[in-house]
Amino acid sequence: MSPQKLSSFSFLFLLKVLIFLLHSTSSASTAGDFPNSSLKRFIISVRRPAAVSHEKSREWHESLLSQLTAAVVNSAAGDTPSAIPRLLHSYTNLLSGFSARLSADELNTISKMDWFINAIPDPVYKLHTTHSPEFLGLLHSPAGAWNDSKQGEGIIIGLLDSGITANHPSFSDQGVPPPPPKWKGKCTFPKPLCNNKLIGAQSFIFGEPDGTPPDDHDGDGHGTHTASTAAGTAVSKAASFGNAAGTAVGMAPRAHIAAYRVCTDDACYDACYGSNILAGMDAAIHDRVDVLSISLGGDADLDFYQDPMAISAFTATSIGIFVSVSAGNDGPEKGTVTNAAPWMLTVGASTMDRRIAADVRFKGESLNQIHDSPARNPIPLVFPGINGDEKPAACSNGSLAGFDVRGKVVVCLRGVNGRVEKGEVVKAAGGAAMILMNTNTAGYTTIADGHVLPASHVSHEDGIKIVEYINTTETATASISFRGTEFRSPFSPSVGDFSSRGPGTASPGILKPDITGPGVSVLAAWHELDPANKKPTFKVLSGTSMSCPHLSGIAALLKAAHMLKGAPRDWSPAAIKSALLTTADVVDRSGKPISDEKRKPADFYALGAGHVNPEKAMNPGLVYDLKKEDYFPYFCGLGYDETLISVIVDREVNCSVVGSIMEAELNYPSFSVELGVGERVVLNRTLTNVGLGSQRYWAEIEPPKGVVVKVVPKRLTFKKLKQEKKFRIVLKRSEEGLEMAKGYLKWVSQSHLVRSPILITSK
Ligand SMILES: *[C@@H]1O[C@H](CO)[C@@H](O)[C@H](O)[C@H]1NC(C)=O
Ligand SMILES: *[C@@H]1O[C@H](CO)[C@@H](O)[C@H](O)[C@H]1NC(C)=O
Ligand SMILES: *[C@@H]1O[C@H](CO)[C@@H](O)[C@H](O)[C@H]1NC(C)=O
Ligand SMILES: *[C@@H]1O[C@H](CO)[C@@H](O)[C@H](O)[C@H]1NC(C)=O
Ligand SMILES: *[C@@H]1O[C@H](CO)[C@@H](O)[C@H](O)[C@H]1NC(C)=O
Repeated sequence: MSPQKLSSFSFLFLLKVLIFLLHSTSSASTAGDFPNSSLKRFIISVRRPAAVSHEKSREWHESLLSQLTAAVVNSAAGDTPSAIPRLLHSYTNLLSGFSARLSADELNTISKMDWFINAIPDPVYKLHTTHSPEFLGLLHSPAGAWNDSKQGEGIIIGLLDSGITANHPSFSDQGVPPPPPKWKGKCTFPKPLCNNKLIGAQSFIFGEPDGTPPDDHDGDGHGTHTASTAAGTAVSKAASFGNAAGTAVGMAPRAHIAAYRVCTDDACYDACYGSNILAGMDAAIHDRVDVLSISLGGDADLDFYQDPMAISAFTATSIGIFVSVSAGNDGPEKGTVTNAAPWMLTVGASTMDRRIAADVRFKGESLNQIHDSPARNPIPLVFPGINGDEKPAACSNGSLAGFDVRGKVVVCLRGVNGRVEKGEVVKAAGGAAMILMNTNTAGYTTIADGHVLPASHVSHEDGIKIVEYINTTETATASISFRGTEFRSPFSPSVGDFSSRGPGTASPGILKPDITGPGVSVLAAWHELDPANKKPTFKVLSGTSMSCPHLSGIAALLKAAHMLKGAPRDWSPAAIKSALLTTADVVDRSGKPISDEKRKPADFYALGAGHVNPEKAMNPGLVYDLKKEDYFPYFCGLGYDETLISVIVDREVNCSVVGSIMEAELNYPSFSVELGVGERVVLNRTLTNVGLGSQRYWAEIEPPKGVVVKVVPKRLTFKKLKQEKKFRIVLKRSEEGLEMAKGYLKWVSQSHLVRSPILITSK
């Protein structure tokens, strides 16, 4: 068979939707309310009269609603469960308004009131479902980031997630001092379970037993995993299926954790409602967290004023809370990134240099290494998709009926159903082992999953060779050998195939994702007990849900370090983001440009500014800073109505007073501009000195192909800390050519390198 035929075979599957199933709770339903209810959920912004105080706003919201809904409440037949109140949450810290369950008529009446500003449908978000500290260079250096930051001591990381398993050893408070006096949060767990590590635990889900949370407060496990990645206490001999063993420890092991439960896997309430996220964020602001870690995402197409996550994160950011969010698992198609507002840090996912080896004749991966299996020695090998049928190719449930897979090694293609489910289907049909083969789209990203039978996950290239071998051999056989955990894999880090790609829909002129961090096969705490010995467990998961808390923990280290040193103690969220972006790595461990799932150099829509380098981020030299008011002309430039801008910024904005700028003119640490041939754009930027007191920088340019770049002035001299200097960058496209041209602007001094990606797209 010719190679052309093989690639057209795989192309068939490239066209199909690639489903990246993290685990069963990734629900993306758009249901407006509970089953059988005639009501829908809305988030209503209102103008609070001066006579109503901040403290009285809840009473005021209740009175507004009760007048309007009194007539309808009694006749709301079929409205289950009736325990859910009409007023869901009343917001005080991050916007003036409330969320409520309303009928179409009620909404219509409300929209005519003079206190009404606007209403948005309550969107549903989904969860974007430890070796990493070493991989990031945090261990083995007495003088490094962990020492400078005292491992995040004194910093509070809030997580909006599915809850937390309080009694897991990853949340032991051994060696963790009490929370700082500013802390105003609370813990709804029975007392002994909260401690100096886990200082807050609250639920924002209606219908849960009041005050007495369920025994298992994270029925999903997701929130336990993300919290331990951000700030888990070191636990030695942590492992999943005996592999990836070692010490499991979070990025900021001495930071405090506050868990805000906004998602649940309960069958009746399975959703992460925007209204709950707003309520969780409202509480986190009240409680005085320093960093928010949010591994959830919604519809990539929402404008910022329709997106409760973006609205609430804006208020959080403007009072100094750093917000780190996951980019989504909908890659590698372009334009799939979620949470792409410029005030948040949007985190993509990349691989580490660890491989949990399960080798066929090729290099593959499997977490569950089953040594005692017939597949140790060569046994018959089959591919149910050999005739080009999609379902048997994917080993989807019920599709193997016509195939004799008993006692054989079965090749299954990724997509259609979950990766672990494929193994369950093969096992149920009597198969002895599985080779999980990547689609063309997934390329070289392989993942260590806990498969139920001997299995090996192989790249597309290797999979094609295996299929070719089956197709040309009378009695094809295969064996799988398990080699345990191996380090120093080539092409690490590389961007995971599933990691969502830019540009963001709401503001394509801001380069997103911002950065990548470890998000493939990450070991962290898990909510289930080991059935054999009833001990707490750890689990390996993959997703941008896993990379986001890495960055949250590193942001906590930055905050802690600059708090201890005293000097630039008040780094803003934008300054911290700039530090992370301008110091990120752009080459992998072998010195080559960081690659994507195809082993091609990753483009900026996959990689953002690069892969996080926590050591370097501690000391960036210069930062591109932003304050709340800097976003006002940006919103005007997006063409938003002034009323909608006021919903986001919680204050009146007059565009003819504040003016209007292009997206690329925001003082952002990266550049993304669309230019036609001959077109030219001039962008102003301001740099702030956070390095040595006095230092000289010069501009070095790696121009994108076909683009002429000029920087004025080419040298900047800073005399003292916090001093600001302005410069202009002129970008002119000289020739037709690349759809995406990439380059860098680097400000270089004797001790610092401040690098910004420049992405030029064609019109
Ligand atoms: C919804 O209504 C259907 C049919 O009326 C009924 O069978 C079902 O039990 C109801 N579901 C709930 C959750 O009340
Ligand atoms: C570690 O940090 C402390 C300050 O917290 C500092 O005094 C000490 O010199 C640092 N250790 C090294 C090896 O740099
Ligand atoms: C297997 O080989 C046959 C004959 O060369 C070819 O027609 C078919 O497309 C091949 N199937 C696959 C899945 O490669
Ligand atoms: C496959 O479908 C059957 C019947 O619906 C179900 O019992 C079984 O649990 C499914 N298997 C998997 C792995 O989902
Ligand atoms: C905005 O400012 C302009 C110029 O000062 C003024 O004419 C206009 O009335 C203002 N608009 C609003 C809505 O206040």
